[in-house]
Amino acid sequence: MGVTRTVPAVSLGEGATPLVPAPRLSAELGLRVYLKCEGANPTGSFKDRGMAVAVSRAREAGSHTVVCASTGNTAASAAAYAARAGLRAVVLTPEGATAGPKRAQARAAGAQVLELRGSFDDALRCCRELATQPGFALVNSLNPDRIEGQKTVSFELVDELGGAPDVVGLPFGGGGNLCAVTRGFEEAGARPRVVAGQAAERATTWASAIRIRRPAHGDEVASLVEAGAVEVVSLEEDEIRMAWLDLARLEGVFCEPASAAALAALRSVALPDEGTAVCILTGHGLKDPERVPEDDAPAVEPRLDAILEVLNGA
Ligand code: F0G
Repeated sequence: MGVTRTVPAVSLGEGATPLVPAPRLSAELGLRVYLKCEGANPTGSFKDRGMAVAVSRAREAGSHTVVCASTGNTAASAAAYAARAGLRAVVLTPEGATAGPKRAQARAAGAQVLELRGSFDDALRCCRELATQPGFALVNSLNPDRIEGQKTVSFELVDELGGAPDVVGLPFGGGGNLCAVTRGFEEAGARPRVVAGQAAERATTWASAIRIRRPAHGDEVASLVEAGAVEVVSLEEDEIRMAWLDLARLEGVFCEPASAAALAALRSVALPDEGTAVCILTGHGLKDPERVPEDDAPAVEPRLDAILEVLNGA
């Protein structure tokens, strides 16, 4: 059901993201760890893979407006692809609960951003209702076209590694990506162990991208767990925060807080002592820069002695 020859694709060059070896994390976890840097997609998150397909098909179907609920990244992606396609984008975000840069991306691309007085779950319910309006297309991951696009990350990993990884870690918010990644591996004839990290405090987590009380794909994820295809682990706030800082400080890869649930998830399970593990880092660190501690950036006089004094801790 992907983009056919008759569907003019709306693309911004999504996919083909870097797969970076992580030597320090490999030493820690005891197997070869790679980081799949999905923040390198055009709008800075994995959503672009699915949005390219969903917006292409919405345009083909004659829709004039795409609509989504979002904790920020879906909004930024929908806005950009809609702009590219010449469609209107309407995005509903939970008021005061999304990162500023993500809203800025959506506004810059000309989307109508409505801050809803409610949670992400409320926004999704409203969007499903809004999508029944003539000419409107829902581009949340409830739209199967999104899943079709997002499963390409699994194909890419199998190609890049020359086979399936042994273990894959990724964040679990609404679960659309978990379903997409699992389906992608299945279609590629691969069956890695998939470990999905969700915030133990779903409704209030500091990782705003996955602040979702009820996962829209919860039933499908439960079936995958039952079938042994997926393990879900619940992560404490500090586990996510620590993984997020370690990715930047040990490996130089700055992802957004929610993405770090991929590493935190792998850290929280027993892993084999050989083989390959991949952390799917879903979004770029610049998406949510406010989270970075500022306390280690002192002001200093513009003189060498003053600078050295600070550097040497005098
Ligand atoms: N990582 C990031 C950076 C996200 O933005 C999201 C979801 C996820 C992981 C979880 O993916 O929902 O498919 O399980 N963000 C959505 C949004 C909710 O609106 O941008 P999921």
